[in-house]
Amino acid sequence: MQEGDTVPISGNTTPQTGNVMLGRYRLLRRIGKGGMGEVWLGEDPRLRRQVAIKTLPLLGQSNAEYSRRFEQEARAAAALNHPHILPVHDYGEQVVANGQVVTYIVMAFVQGGSLAERIAMLDHDNRGMPLNDIMSYLSQAAEAIDYAHSLGVLHRDIKPSNMLLRSDNWLLLADFGIARILSEPGQNTQTGLGFGTPEYMAPEQAQGKAEAASDNYSLAVIAYQLFTRRLPFSGDTSYATTIQHLHISTNLFLQLEWHHSYPPVDGPRHRSLQQEAR
Ligand SMILES: Nc1ncnc2c1ncn2[C@@H]1O[C@H](COP(=O)(O)OP(=O)(O)O)[C@@H](O)[C@H]1O
Ligand SMILES: [Mg+2]
Repeated sequence: MQEGDTVPISGNTTPQTGNVMLGRYRLLRRIGKGGMGEVWLGEDPRLRRQVAIKTLPLLGQSNAEYSRRFEQEARAAAALNHPHILPVHDYGEQVVANGQVVTYIVMAFVQGGSLAERIAMLDHDNRGMPLNDIMSYLSQAAEAIDYAHSLGVLHRDIKPSNMLLRSDNWLLLADFGIARILSEPGQNTQTGLGFGTPEYMAPEQAQGKAEAASDNYSLAVIAYQLFTRRLPFSGDTSYATTIQHLHISTNLFLQLEWHHSYPPVDGPRHRSLQQEAR
C-alpha cells in the first residue's frame, strides 16, 4: 500500500459488508469517494443508528502533530451548531495494516444524495433546476456559511458535492474544516494550486490565502452554475482552471449568461450576486 492510498482498511481487500470496524463503528458499504478519502455508510451499534464515516487519506506512521491538528479541526467543526450544517458526531484514529493510521470522522448520514448528483441528473435529462429550488439551496447554504463565519470558521471547500440534500430539499453543508486538515504541509495531498477541485476555488485561496470571502466566492460560482447550467471557468486541467480564476475578471455577475428559462433578475438579487462575486 502506498502512502496517500485511501482505505482498504483491512489490508488489500475492500471490506465487504458488515465485517470491518473503525472504533466502535461497523462499516456497511462505501457510498462515495472524493479527492480526500472515502465515505462509508456505517452503523453505530451502541446508539443503533446509521452514520456516515469519512476516512481521510492514510498517514504513514502515527504523527502526533497531525493528530493534534486533526483533533483541533474536528472540534471546531463539531462546535458548529446550525440547522444547515451537517452534525459531526465523533472522530477517531485507528492503526491498521503496517502501522498506518486511518483518521475518520463520524457524521449524520443523509439519504437524498448531494447537490452535485442533482445537477448531474438534471444535466443528463437536459433540464434546468426550478428557480424556487435554486433560491432555496443558495439561501440555505448562505445561512450556514454566514453562521460559521460569525464564529470565525471557514469552510474552504464549498462545492455542490459538499451540499447534502434530504428528500424534503433541506440542505446540509458537509466537510467543514476538512480541506484545512488535508492541505497542511506534511500531508500526502498536494497543497496550493493542486489541491481540491479548482472549479469553485477563489483566486486568493488558490494562492494560499483563504478568507471568509473565498467561501462566498465559491457559493457565487455555484449560483452561476445553477442559473446558467455551466461553470464560469473550466479548463482541460486543474491548473488551467485555476489560471482562469486568477486572470479572468472575477465579477461573475457581469459574465452571467442568464438561462432563458429564468425570469429577469430583480434588484436585491442582482446586488447580492454582485457582492458574492465581489
Ligand atoms: N454524511 C453523508 N451522508 C450521505 N452521503 C454522503 C455524506 N458525506 C458524503 N457523502 C457522499 O459521499 C461522496 C464523497 O464525499 P467526499 O469524500 O467528501 O468527496 P467529495 O465531497 O469531493 O465528493 C459525496 O459526493 C456524497 O455523495
Ligand atoms: Mg465532501
